[in-house]
Amino acid sequence: MKPLTIAIDGPAASGKSTLGYHLAQHLDYLYLDTGVLYRAVTWAALHQAIPIDDEAAVTRLAETAPIAVLPPTVADGRQATIRCEDADITWDIRSPEVNAAVSPVSAYPGVRAALTQRMRAMAAQGRIVMVGRDIGTVVLPDADLKFYVVASDEARAQRRHAEMQAQGKAVTYEEVLANLRLRDAIDSSRAAAPLKAADDAVIFDTTRFTIEEMFGEAERLVRSRENGR
Ligand code: DC
Repeated sequence: MKPLTIAIDGPAASGKSTLGYHLAQHLDYLYLDTGVLYRAVTWAALHQAIPIDDEAAVTRLAETAPIAVLPPTVADGRQATIRCEDADITWDIRSPEVNAAVSPVSAYPGVRAALTQRMRAMAAQGRIVMVGRDIGTVVLPDADLKFYVVASDEARAQRRHAEMQAQGKAVTYEEVLANLRLRDAIDSSRAAAPLKAADDAVIFDTTRFTIEEMFGEAERLVRSRENGR
């Protein structure tokens, strides 16, 4: 069977990570949620008190920060362990401070170039499911299979709000919806690698399909591509 590279893109909280993670587990492929790299650079900038608007310094961090994405080292619901500067930053990169600063960081072309290089190195051996915003369009334009996952703003906000409540975070549904829309607007309108579906991507709308239906269809496509069809 041919080892595949699988690209999954889509806006925040669309369900793309759930699809990617389960697909990778099921196929015994490596799973890389590329958002963690943008988040780790943002965390490192905040940690070192580098101003987020200092593009040159933030870009240097993206080029040099010792970021490691490892299999989970703690069974606390994480999909991977993220380390930087000898610290386990797996949960810190989900903080409101990082959420607020990650979109501008990921709009810097130099940051994108540096992280894209890291992603391609990780994908070099194949057998990988890579999830992000520009994987099918920019990072791995020759991926064997591309999925683009969408859902209505309201469905995405409901999902993210429930997740945050489960983590004990005091935030309203309206705040979550406004934050998602703001981040989508920045991600879709930036000059460098804006969020959009690749022409050859299979589009899944999770407002209309359950995760099980989407997963079944994705797996069917993977199997047929693995067999060279
Ligand atoms: O998926 P996420 O919310 O963890 O992503 C965090 C930020 O990184 C988000 O603002 C979009 C950006 N990102 C990106 O621009 N390209 C990627 N391949 C992955 C994430």
